[in-house]
Amino acid sequence: MLGLSAVLALSACGGARSSGSGGGGGEDQTFTIKFSHVVAPKTPKGQAAEKFKELVEEKSDGKITVDVFPNSELYGDKDELQALQSNSVQVLAPASAKFTTLAPALQVLDLPFLFDSVDDIPKVVSPDTPAGKAIFENQALADNNIKVLGLWDNGLKQLSSNTEMRTPADLQGLSFRIQPSDVLAAQFSAWGANSTPLAFSEVFNALQQGVIDGQENPYSNIESQNMHTVQTNITESNHGYIGYVLVINNDFLNSLPDDLQQVVQDSADEASDYNRKIAAQLNQDAKKTIEDAGTTQILKLTDQERQAFKDAVVPAVWDQYRDVIDSDLIDSLLAQK
Ligand code: LMR
Repeated sequence: MLGLSAVLALSACGGARSSGSGGGGGEDQTFTIKFSHVVAPKTPKGQAAEKFKELVEEKSDGKITVDVFPNSELYGDKDELQALQSNSVQVLAPASAKFTTLAPALQVLDLPFLFDSVDDIPKVVSPDTPAGKAIFENQALADNNIKVLGLWDNGLKQLSSNTEMRTPADLQGLSFRIQPSDVLAAQFSAWGANSTPLAFSEVFNALQQGVIDGQENPYSNIESQNMHTVQTNITESNHGYIGYVLVINNDFLNSLPDDLQQVVQDSADEASDYNRKIAAQLNQDAKKTIEDAGTTQILKLTDQERQAFKDAVVPAVWDQYRDVIDSDLIDSLLAQK
């Protein structure tokens, strides 16, 4: 006999198909997509998730409902990819680093100093670029029943802590929270710092309680999680990128009628365009909010100071992960620099 929790788990799995005309998949069958993510609704990912919902519901004439769960309220970093594979949620948009165990090659987007400015992002992170194709065609994702629908930006990461950080030497001995990515651990280690992987939902408390000294994120994530209220210093280093891989449970997608599968992909494409239009501005707005709060000194590195951080990790960290990411891809990205 099935225990109660097993019955609940089974019914949750079936929840994607909320109602139907009875087995045969008739015209009036309706579907529900649960879309879980870990950030605040006002961030570039949060806003794009809302746009995706709006587009899918409109284009499907209400045949698909999208329920968005922000702020790790349904699933967090530790269980969302499992929930996707078991079809407990249908859509996610985790940052590339969150795929490290499942699809380590996605760490390509975590390479330090992949970009010098936000304007360079589309040249590297778009569906038709070598890095974009490597993500869309990633075999490990396909083997795990995960299909890529799009690439979304947050933006460039800044360093925060309670210490002025002008040179890599200033980071020595500090402990930084990282996403669970080996590339990110190597980056901090090259700067002489320690790093600890922690779920995004745990970062504010860990900073507040001094469990860690600092962290790295774009302004929109720092501000919307109130991290600046417990960090006296931000260094505007623009040293790395947070990009998201919009993914769907492939079996769920294939269970939709063809026209609705097209609706999902078209909506993902439009939501991706929308995300790219708003991301940089949302980060600028968040920076302004932090400045206005007056809690945190923002230090803008000179080109020379930034170069010192860069020289410590490029190409050393890139070379270290050639085998994991793909040596030819690393060469083509280095050539673009
Ligand atoms: C983080 O964990 O710092 C980010 O990946 C959170 C996010 O999704 O932007």
